[in-house]
Amino acid sequence: MTNLLTSAPRGTKDILPAASAQWQKLEKTIRQLCSRFGYQEIRTPVFEHTELFIRGIGETTDVVEKEMYTFTDRGERSLTLRPENTASVVRAYLENKLYGEAEQPTKLFYMGPMFRYDRPQAGRYRQFHQFGVEVLGAAAPTVDAEAIALAIQLFQGLGLTELTLFINSVGCPTCRPAYREQLQNYLRPQLDSLCPDCKSRFDRNPMRILDCKSEACRQASQGAPQMLDCLCEECHDHFAGLKALLDAAEIPYSINTNLVRGLDYYTKTAFEIQYAPLGAQSAVCGGGRYDGLVAQCGGPDTPGIGFAVGLERLLLALEKQELLPAATRCSDVFIAPLGKEQTPMAFALLLQLRKEGLTADMDFLGRSLKAQLKQANRQKARFALLLGEEEQANQQVLLKDLETSEQSLVNAQEAINAIKEEMGE
Ligand code: HAM
Repeated sequence: MTNLLTSAPRGTKDILPAASAQWQKLEKTIRQLCSRFGYQEIRTPVFEHTELFIRGIGETTDVVEKEMYTFTDRGERSLTLRPENTASVVRAYLENKLYGEAEQPTKLFYMGPMFRYDRPQAGRYRQFHQFGVEVLGAAAPTVDAEAIALAIQLFQGLGLTELTLFINSVGCPTCRPAYREQLQNYLRPQLDSLCPDCKSRFDRNPMRILDCKSEACRQASQGAPQMLDCLCEECHDHFAGLKALLDAAEIPYSINTNLVRGLDYYTKTAFEIQYAPLGAQSAVCGGGRYDGLVAQCGGPDTPGIGFAVGLERLLLALEKQELLPAATRCSDVFIAPLGKEQTPMAFALLLQLRKEGLTADMDFLGRSLKAQLKQANRQKARFALLLGEEEQANQQVLLKDLETSEQSLVNAQEAINAIKEEMGE
């Protein structure tokens, strides 16, 4: 039986120090890239009113029907841990009237944990992290292309290859109803062969049947009419515009007419970036345009576009390509007191070194000198400061260069100056 006190909940995991160094590096890369692209960070709460997700993501989606962590708080409010962040960003955009700010469009990015009651497996968790961007207030395909370019630049900059960008258009409320009907007419004779999920999708959300992974549904939808052939003029022009921009930027893409995506808010552009070596969970990035969402949440008619990258999946991809350097701890200097009596002086020196901006450490376990030097080596310390009885009496330290083994007796300030000079401070 699982020991509840020593096991994290199913589908969650700890990010331990060796891994957190990799997370920090990735987060730093993302922040720098977003800043170059003119996106600013937004941080929204991890829980919202349940109603926001029901309305925003759509009642008939798997996320809302099966995957939300919903609870009633002590004030009898229904709240939900965010399963994604687009709805929250739209809520924040409206609540804070960001549409009224001078600089438009509003270009935002976020990073943080999301929660879905999904069946856990490699690359799929119940608490996972997304990096995402949302652009509100611009309808032109240039913002779609810019967002896609940002994601591609991130992946390529990290060194990932074997990526495929899939794009599609899922139309808009003008052209979609007629297409849905055509699709239903095509699928109706095969209704019995569809998987149970798709049977119930047939009336409510037939386009989702197109990207169902079950073999029966794939067979049934083979040869089905395609949304791309039924786009209204506006959607058609938008898609043509996007393709022209991607061509101009030399971003290769593949058109996937079955790419529908699992959230109801999408209009026009839908896209996904897949990293095939990840197998079943190969989507490292998914996004699209959601021109109706702001209005649906009660705001002014405002177009939107965005995407989210699954950070765990991205790290898995980087690991597969051996692009994650092992995190090693490196300190500038390690202080080794020879005995208990020298510890207070060593401790004061340690804090002084840190105040001076150096990465410094000492032993906290009362180890022998030999063991302390071993520890200094493990930390890849560049210098050691040895402090024995005699040094203490003379207010000196023995400064040892661990690379050259050169050593000299100096006072504390001289030691700091010498180390700083060597470390390029
Ligand atoms: P999504 O496709 O549901 O879209 O999620 C985006 C990405 O999050 C996926 O491609 C995947 O990498 C990662 N992801 C999703 N679920 C899990 C999970 N259970 N475990 C690990 N990773 C996961 C959205 O969330 C939209 N909000 C994206 C968007 C932004 N569309 C417009 N703006």
